[in-house]
Amino acid sequence: MKLAIPKERQADEPRVAATPDTVKKYVGLGMDVCVETGAGDGSYISDQAYKDAGATIAPSSAEALKDADLVFAVRAPDDEQLGLIKKGAVLAAILNPYGDRDRVQKYADAGIVAIAMEFMPRITRAQSMDVLSSQSNLAGFRAVIEAAAAFSRAMPMMMTAAGTVAPARVFVFGAGVAGLQAIATAKRLGAIVSATDVRRAAGEQIESLGGTFIMVESDDEDGETAAGYAKEMSEDYKQRQAALVAEHIKKQDIVITTALIPGRAAPVLVSEEMVKSMKPGSIIVDLAVEQGGNCPLSKPGETVVTENGVTILGFKNMAGRLPVDASSLYAKNLLNFITPQIDQEAKSLNLNWEDETVTGTALTRDGAVVHPALKGESA
Ligand code: NAI
Repeated sequence: MKLAIPKERQADEPRVAATPDTVKKYVGLGMDVCVETGAGDGSYISDQAYKDAGATIAPSSAEALKDADLVFAVRAPDDEQLGLIKKGAVLAAILNPYGDRDRVQKYADAGIVAIAMEFMPRITRAQSMDVLSSQSNLAGFRAVIEAAAAFSRAMPMMMTAAGTVAPARVFVFGAGVAGLQAIATAKRLGAIVSATDVRRAAGEQIESLGGTFIMVESDDEDGETAAGYAKEMSEDYKQRQAALVAEHIKKQDIVITTALIPGRAAPVLVSEEMVKSMKPGSIIVDLAVEQGGNCPLSKPGETVVTENGVTILGFKNMAGRLPVDASSLYAKNLLNFITPQIDQEAKSLNLNWEDETVTGTALTRDGAVVHPALKGESA
């Protein structure tokens, strides 16, 4: 049973899908692990460290992927790499199936089982396999650090002989995994923190971290779906939310937006008007920038400074800005996912098609698109 770890092809992807720790575990499970040379460079993991853990090092993607039964990656492989994966193999990565639907058909055509790790069902047993959680946590932390670094003032209140420095006001849109970590981080830095979410359950969590919950009063509308994610809200709700936020945002120094709706473009929450109403020197970090953005002025991978002096940070791949931790947690997510699928006696991979961690994440099987959310839409 051969497991391949190819080097990521996207220039801005420093993460890697296996670490020496997880390689050791795979070797213990009876796998031959083959890592493409340089795969760990972005995360400060040398070829030698993989070798010491029991992997072999391949000089190219072609060598690493040759005859592999299992391929772990961070992002979708490019066409060349995909062409090198043998029929019947299992590929697990963050495949972005909603954003990259055309590729889903390519996985089917290649005859591989493509596993989209971000589709992991939110069941208790699968928490340790949940890549959205592990990566969002780091992204939420880093978003505050980036904001603090770009901010021209201090975050905590400081009482000095020369005068008092006022604490920064931080407002977080979306109190999911990233948002809650952002709230906790901003609190630790001494800011006055508030946050909003469409899910009522988020209120208690925001308050338990010392934040103030800014919530639209609505008797009949809760934005939480059975899967625990947010849904698209009614027009009436959106208008009331915008009015409430418009007043609040004027007084904020730092705004961090993390609001996402699975399978849809991110909701627009910080309008141009709102940005205009903010003070010069204020900072916006749009963590949803790669899904269309929560602010129409944010640009993926760019820093925008508006006429009224508001800086909008549009970092892509925020978790990748902490590549060592991001790789370590992601690699563990993959290990936790695949371990129950290995037949340790036969030393072979045996995907259990009754298991919802498999059926919930598998996009393709036997040459067809099989995921219920995508079936019939990708061709
Ligand atoms: P997400 O990344 O899909 O969205 C981020 C946040 O934005 C969510 O809290 C969402 O409610 C909020 N949002 C969406 N539209 C909004 C709008 N128009 N205005 C304001 N906020 C808006 O969500 P994430 O971080 O993946 O978490 C969603 C839920 O799942 C949370 O309750 C989280 O605690 C839970 N969760 C459960 C897990 C498990 O049981 N295995 C693992 C991870 C998270």
